[in-house]
Amino acid sequence: MNACLIGVGSIGGDKHNDVDNKKTAVKTHAHALYNNREYFDNIYIVDKNIEPLTRVCDKWDFKESFVDLDFLLKESEHIDFFVIATPQETHLELFKKIAPHKPKSVLIEKPCGNSQDECNDIGWIAAKFNIKVFVDYQRNFIYGLPLLDGLDKVKKIVLNYTRGFIRDGSHFFALLAKEQLEMPYDIKLLSAVNDLDDIKDLTYTLFFKITGKQGEKVEVFMNGFDGRIADVFEIMFYGDKENVSLVDHGKLRLNAAHEEEKTFGKGYKSFSNTTLATMTDLENGLECVHDDITLFLNTSSSLFYQGSYKHALEAWTMMEQIKGVING
Ligand SMILES: NC(=O)c1ccc[n+]([C@@H]2O[C@H](COP(=O)([O-])OP(=O)(O)OC[C@H]3O[C@@H](n4cnc5c(N)ncnc54)[C@H](O)[C@@H]3O)[C@@H](O)[C@H]2O)c1
Repeated sequence: MNACLIGVGSIGGDKHNDVDNKKTAVKTHAHALYNNREYFDNIYIVDKNIEPLTRVCDKWDFKESFVDLDFLLKESEHIDFFVIATPQETHLELFKKIAPHKPKSVLIEKPCGNSQDECNDIGWIAAKFNIKVFVDYQRNFIYGLPLLDGLDKVKKIVLNYTRGFIRDGSHFFALLAKEQLEMPYDIKLLSAVNDLDDIKDLTYTLFFKITGKQGEKVEVFMNGFDGRIADVFEIMFYGDKENVSLVDHGKLRLNAAHEEEKTFGKGYKSFSNTTLATMTDLENGLECVHDDITLFLNTSSSLFYQGSYKHALEAWTMMEQIKGVING
């Protein structure tokens, strides 16, 4: 079996050695492929930029590196598994290029294309060539997530986040999709910060309501912080008796109640914030994703990754619906 990783930037492989090395948790696709190397005859690494390509191949002992994907596709043996870890503007174009080579599966980085339409196109092409697409919303595959199943009726969800409504906010929408919380309504924009230096992807502070699994109303507070000052991604689910808090990075929880009241007004106070939250860190996400795909490649079954493309498409639907309201 052969694998190919396209794009070795931050998530692909080019993380600082202190953050991602053979002794740390898996933080990059290169590391995950390295850990699963026994399953592959060849692991091809592609990046149009020679510098990260050389650094990453040296670090993870990969021998086959290419700056030209077309050349690799022409010359190599059949590739069963691709990882697309390039910027989202390139996802569809790269997917169109590799699909006719009929890999068994493609792991594509979130948000899977640059729009709902592009994500949709990726799905159509995958169906045509019978390719299993997995979208790397790795926060949907952490070991602690089943804690949410134990929650009695979610009434309120708070997200504290930075780095863009699409870029980091999309993880939240994919999780809502996975938890079958959909159809945002009563959407209100409270503020926006340009903390990514990207006018196309501001970090919004929003309030909206969303429909829960049994048709119940869930209030959602999406609290956008300025990532240049404090970097954070944490979600708090408030159930009837217990709360669950999922923390990826940053810990704003202690002062969050104050911030939320300041941002969202006095009504916010009526929610109890006294029950203890269960903290779960999200370090194992990328490892779960790769292990499950390796299982799929070997046995054609997948333990828990089914539906990841569907959740990505639903995340795009929710994000575009909200952006539509914001942009009038
Ligand atoms: N799942 C997660 O938690 C997570 C985290 C970070 C980034 N991402 C996603 O991963 C993707 C990449 O993000 P990043 O931060 O690693 O970006 P990056 O800019 O750090 O790296 C992208 C790499 O892709 C290469 N590249 C660009 N176009 C290419 C092409 N056509 N062919 C070959 N190589 C090409 C670039 O040279 C660069 O090395 C984005 O879609 C982003 O949203 C996901």
